[in-house]
Amino acid sequence: MRKIVEKYCEMPAPIKRPLWRLWHKLLIRFDKDTRAVFLNYGYHDEETSDRLHLKHEDEPDRYCIQLYDVVASRLPLKRKDVIEVGSGRGGGASFLTRYYSPRSYRAFDISADVISFCNRYYNVEGLSFHKGCAENLPVKSGSCDVVVNVESARCYKDINQFFSEVKRILRPGGHFLFADMIPPGHLSKIRQSLQDRGFHIREQLNITKNVVTALVLDSARREQIIQERIPGFLAKSFAQFAGTRGTERFDAFNNGKFEYWTFQMENRA
Ligand SMILES: C[S@@+](CC[C@H](N)C(=O)[O-])C[C@H]1O[C@@H](n2cnc3c(N)ncnc32)[C@H](O)[C@@H]1O
Repeated sequence: MRKIVEKYCEMPAPIKRPLWRLWHKLLIRFDKDTRAVFLNYGYHDEETSDRLHLKHEDEPDRYCIQLYDVVASRLPLKRKDVIEVGSGRGGGASFLTRYYSPRSYRAFDISADVISFCNRYYNVEGLSFHKGCAENLPVKSGSCDVVVNVESARCYKDINQFFSEVKRILRPGGHFLFADMIPPGHLSKIRQSLQDRGFHIREQLNITKNVVTALVLDSARREQIIQERIPGFLAKSFAQFAGTRGTERFDAFNNGKFEYWTFQMENRA
């Protein structure tokens, strides 16, 4: 299992979706009173940390929240219609809705189990969770102002089809906020694919160092949750998934196998 998690990004596409569905089932089973509502590697810089005042109950998730914040905070979300694709356990959707007051926030994920978990767990005005696949979203054309996508696109069968879907559902002048780990050799292809679809890249940031710093600072908390919740024979697989210090996934950011990028884009006709 550990090898599967380690090599997930290189796995053939048809295996990726069932693996995610299984992973969500395991998480729902093991994390009974819900300590983990984020599934990303996090982000840290001093300026964000000083500026972002979190409620007491959100503090444990600070690094994962800071990743959502760096992706979304430079664009006003207030009174916008937002769609998130690949929302996982919903922590980011809940944070952005509570702190940035969009008019509506509809969050989509491929796993029916995680969607019903989120609809039971959260009660935030304007926020709703729906089952949907990134490459064929059950969303009307031209119906949203902002699309958020955090650490999910590398899982898709066809990332270009996902970009076409984002283009289809955004209103003209709308924004696409994207963050994920990318092998350095794929960066120019991804940029080209986005530009070919009419996205103007307003800002692109290589945040690899900030993600590694967050993982260093957050490793002890992640390890503790794994130790308390996960059966011993699966602990190494979950540590790999969580990217804690000493895992191949953590090392992949230091040895240049992956970089972590965020793009802010505008939908130009
Ligand atoms: C690493 S998690 C990130 C979750 C969340 N964005 C966060 O930061 O906590 C990736 C998520 O993408 C979802 N996912 C994978 N393939 C998908 C697809 N084709 N369509 C929609 N969601 C998908 C997975 O189920 C998982 O919840």
